Order: sequence, then structure tokens, then C-alpha cells
Amino acid sequence: MDYDYTNFYFGAGDDAFALLEPFADWWGEVKPRGYYQYELPLQSAPSTRVDVKDTKTGEIRKGLINFASYNYLGLSYRDEVKRAIKEAVDIFGGGSSGSPILSGTTRLHDELAEKMAAFKGKEAAMIFPTGYSANVGVIAGLMRSGDLIVADQYAHASIVDGMILSKAKSRFFRHNNAEDLDRKLSRFEGKKLVIVEGVYSMDGDTSTLPELWEVTKKHGARMLIDEAHSTFIFGENGRGVAEHYGLDDEIDMHLGTFSKSLGGQGGFIAGSQALIDYLRGFARSRFFSCALAPTVVAGINAALDLAVAHPELRTKLMENACTMMKLLTDEGVDVGDSNSQVIPIMVRNDARIFDLGEELLREGVFINPVKYPAVGKHKSRFRMSISADHTQEDLEEGAEIIVRVLRRNGIIE
Ligand SMILES: Cc1ncc(COP(=O)(O)O)c(C=O)c1O
Repeated sequence: MDYDYTNFYFGAGDDAFALLEPFADWWGEVKPRGYYQYELPLQSAPSTRVDVKDTKTGEIRKGLINFASYNYLGLSYRDEVKRAIKEAVDIFGGGSSGSPILSGTTRLHDELAEKMAAFKGKEAAMIFPTGYSANVGVIAGLMRSGDLIVADQYAHASIVDGMILSKAKSRFFRHNNAEDLDRKLSRFEGKKLVIVEGVYSMDGDTSTLPELWEVTKKHGARMLIDEAHSTFIFGENGRGVAEHYGLDDEIDMHLGTFSKSLGGQGGFIAGSQALIDYLRGFARSRFFSCALAPTVVAGINAALDLAVAHPELRTKLMENACTMMKLLTDEGVDVGDSNSQVIPIMVRNDARIFDLGEELLREGVFINPVKYPAVGKHKSRFRMSISADHTQEDLEEGAEIIVRVLRRNGIIE
């Protein structure tokens, strides 16, 4: 039997370390067989070409075409961003040294919250240490035991963890299926929250928001939209998929992260002033955790200014995504339902995904293999992130390598 992580979740015995030894045995065997492809240390900035240490051979693989980083707009390594970080370090030093409600807030944090609220067209916004903690803090900060939360079945782990922590009744509706959402919300009296994403992180498809919003409204529920992968990318002003559908004013809570399009770190929630004031007292993942380092915030502030001042970056990103989609689909590659810069390259062979990943790495492409339990069984894939900075040459060469490897291995004809 081929094990995976899930086989080491429960075990017999009264020792908290009971699973460590069997796990270590398994890990020692499977790491060289493919699991080593996680946590490969980069030796350079997450730009379109990267130097990566191949931990199996010890070699540094130079100039790999990077389809693994979230740096969608190529902002993390821009001079303006680096300069802002350097200036901040001279003033504030390394860390913030405090919870945001005590001593950890600097003028840079306030500036970022204000800019984010203005960008989203909301009364207020609140900053979290990560996108993960934003979901956990907002969901558990708002919902209680006896309430109902219904999320899309492809919801990110941070949404799921927020649901668990809230102790509310948790249900999932079939992906993007408004009828199923309707069923799940029916016959429940009480506080209800619906959670969707703008762009789904493993599939790259956008939410069927208008239908889902209609159902949400019909049941008097509130909606939280996680636009981790769509803020600064979708919509006329880059506010996200909600703006794309003209629903940004109607939806109550807009969540996102600074780790994707802005290439930084941290999360945010934008909404009414009353929502933000309430969460200040109840979003435990924020106030029981150290505030983001001022250097990080300075970098995000600069990246946000660039994203706002240069809408052509998101146009270029979408052009690049379309180019790559065409290069791949013309050769028969299955990219699922993606209509964004997140492109799944469906392999649907859990046993071979790592072998293919190794070949791609050796031939010049850095891309993430994804398999169960991160996605469903037999839904293994490579998760490709496109950047506005990729050149036509990067896209063509990358697609050519991917197609060659998939064809050689019989994944495509
Ligand atoms: C939809 C979604 N929400 C939240 C997060 C968490 O964001 P962060 O990595 O900034 O913690 C992610 C990260 O991949 C995500 O895909």
C-alpha cells in the first residue's frame, strides 16, 4: 500500500509521540522518491527565473523558469519596494515587538489599513499577520456555537480552520453550486454566514458570485469573500471578483492577503467601521499575535502604491495567463476550469506526479506538484502561477518543457 500523510493522523497508544517513529520510517523512504520537492530552498528572489537547491542531489539548479511563486504582479523585488523596506529598517529596526492592540502598531500599519480600506472602497480595514490568520480571526471572531457557516467545498484550509475554531455548525456546498448552497441554508433559523473565494487557489476558476449572492441574500445570510488570489487583479479597479460582478458594495466582508499579488506578507479584512471595531475585540488571531514587522508593512505599502498606479500590470498578467493557457491547451494539456493566473496542469495520477515533478525540475521548470490530501484523490496536478513579469520567451520555453515532459510520460498524446 502507498501511504500518504493521512495514514499518520490517528494511531493507537498513549504516547503523544507514538506516530513519530512510523512516520519517520515512511518519510525516510518517500522523501527521496518525490516528497523532497517540497521546501526546496530558493537562492534568489522569487522572480521569473530562480536558482533553487535540489535537495536530492545537492546541486543548485540555476535559472529555472519560475511558475511556483505567488508574486503575480512581480512586485516583491521592485526597487521601490526594496527602498521602502530599507528606509523602514533604519527608522523602526527589525520587528514590531508587540501585539497590534498594545505596542505593535506603527504609523506604517495605520497607513496600510487606511490605504486598504480606500482601495476596497470600504469604511475601514484591519491588518492581520497572515491571510491564514485573517480567515481564522474573522470567522471565529464573528460566529458562535449554534450558528451556521456554509462554505464552498474548495474553501482554503484557513477558512476551514476558522469554521472549526468558531464551533458553529459547519457545512460545505458543492463547488460554485447555488442550488446546493440554497439547500444547505434552508431550514436553519439563526445567524448564517456564507464563505466563498474570488479565485479558487488550486483550480484557478472564479466564483459564480452573482448566483451565490442571490441565494445568500434570499436566506438573510451574510457573506465573506476571500479574494486572496483576485485582489489587485480582477475588476475595473483591481478590487477583485466582487468588483468584476458589480457586487463589491453589497458584499459585507472582503478578505485578502498581501502575500500573493503584492508579494509581501499579511492579511486584511475590509468592511464597515462597525465590523472592524467589533473584530478589534474578538479576532484573537490578531490581537494575541505580534503585529507584522514594520519593514514588511513598508514593503507592502510601496507594493500597494505600485499596484494602484500601474493597472497595466494586471492587464499584462491576464494576457500572460491567456497566452500560457493557449500554449498548453493547443497541445492537449488539461487546465481544468481555470480562467485566471492560477493554472492547474491536471495530471490525475497520484503515483506519478513526483516523477514528473522531478523531470520538470531537471529540465528547467520550477513548479509545485500538488496531490492528496491538498486536493482530492486522483486530482493530482501541477499548480502554475503566472506573473506579469514573465516574458513571451519564458512562457513559450516553459510550456514547451511542460508539454515535452507530459507527452514523454503519456499524460497527453
Ligand atoms: C484562498 C486563500 N486564503 C487564504 C490564504 C492564506 O494566505 P497567506 O498565505 O497570506 O497566509 C491562502 C493562501 O494560499 C489562500 O489561497
